[in-house]
Amino acid sequence: MPRINDNYLKLKAGYLFPEIGRRVREFRSENPDAPIIKLGIGDVTEPLPQACIDAMHAAVDEMSQRETFRGYMDDSQGHDWLREAIVKNDYEARGCQVSASEIFVSDGSKCDTANILDILAAGKNRIAVTDPVYPVYVDTNVMAGNTGEAKESGGYDGVVYLPVTAENNFTPALPDKPVDVIYLCYPNNPTGTVLGKDELAKWVEYARQNEALILYDAAYEAYITDPEIPHSIYEIDGARDVAIEFRSFSKNAGFTGVRCALTVIPDSVTGTIATGEKRPLQPLWARRHNTKFNGVSYITQRGVEAVYSEAGKQQVADLIAFYLENARLLREGLEAVGITVFGGVNAPYIWLKTPGDLSSWDFFDRLLTSGHLVGTPGSGFGTAGEGYFRLSAFNSRENIEEAVKRFQRVVE
Ligand code: MLT
Repeated sequence: MPRINDNYLKLKAGYLFPEIGRRVREFRSENPDAPIIKLGIGDVTEPLPQACIDAMHAAVDEMSQRETFRGYMDDSQGHDWLREAIVKNDYEARGCQVSASEIFVSDGSKCDTANILDILAAGKNRIAVTDPVYPVYVDTNVMAGNTGEAKESGGYDGVVYLPVTAENNFTPALPDKPVDVIYLCYPNNPTGTVLGKDELAKWVEYARQNEALILYDAAYEAYITDPEIPHSIYEIDGARDVAIEFRSFSKNAGFTGVRCALTVIPDSVTGTIATGEKRPLQPLWARRHNTKFNGVSYITQRGVEAVYSEAGKQQVADLIAFYLENARLLREGLEAVGITVFGGVNAPYIWLKTPGDLSSWDFFDRLLTSGHLVGTPGSGFGTAGEGYFRLSAFNSRENIEEAVKRFQRVVE
């Protein structure tokens, strides 16, 4: 009889987005004609940049000829030409010291932020997360045995939660007890807020002083409009010794359905082994990557390479501008009816205070039943998200304009 991983039994309810999907399906089965607009999960709606399409078509043609056909890659870390383009455009251009050997191309940041736990000792690390937070960070630590049981009041025993609310201007305080691993996501999912250089530098300094590891999720960096906000944690001196960075092509080039992301593990990031001796993490991740993963498809990597072409850069910039304009319309439309709104300037998410102090799920139900609108309840991201609600700016212009009208009708 196989022995199961009991840690899974500690997990509360379903993963947030399937739970929203379940409620929407239920509503739809009773109201089949309701013209539902979804501003829930942050999934892009616009077609891929033409430069990526052209590159992928050309790659498919290469696959059709014996001479240019490709099978397995020599190394699942990613083709050199792609990793070099990433270094040049995403890192060198911002004065960050990152080399191609430190980049691991993968099929998604969700998987990478989850799988990174493979190289950390299960049950031996205390983690810190902001609250609210992208649920994947917490749930995967529950699965790995890094937490205690679910608490009645929300959250899990053993996790250090760092509240981010309007009261502290969405700036997390440093942990007040020792932690080994800190998850930071900026621009932030779900609140759409950002962390300035000085604030981020405090975290790097904290990690250096306390020998903690920062897992920095920069999946939304392309949405930063303020020139003072760092795009990469490696813009901060000393971060190369304490931080792993995750990036994605989902939200900039619209690869949510194609799948491609990258993880940077500088060769100077270390952890300790049982004896207390320090060892670099990068070779462990390389070993894991090559054992459990056969690399991102050649066609996809060619598509991603085109993100860094002149045409690709412009087309990606156009997509970002489009979604940010959606965010502006949502923000201003909501403010016009007295809703308090955060985020949406350097991020594709709007984080709003629910009107009339409604709970997050009550507001979800009201929006769905009265406005046929779907968003994400703030409490689904953590206890401190209660009384807040997230709207995603990923949608067509027509749907965003219609959503603003319906939203106004529901809350007025
Ligand atoms: C979200 O809506 O929070 C994200 O789209 C989820 C994800 O990127 O996995």
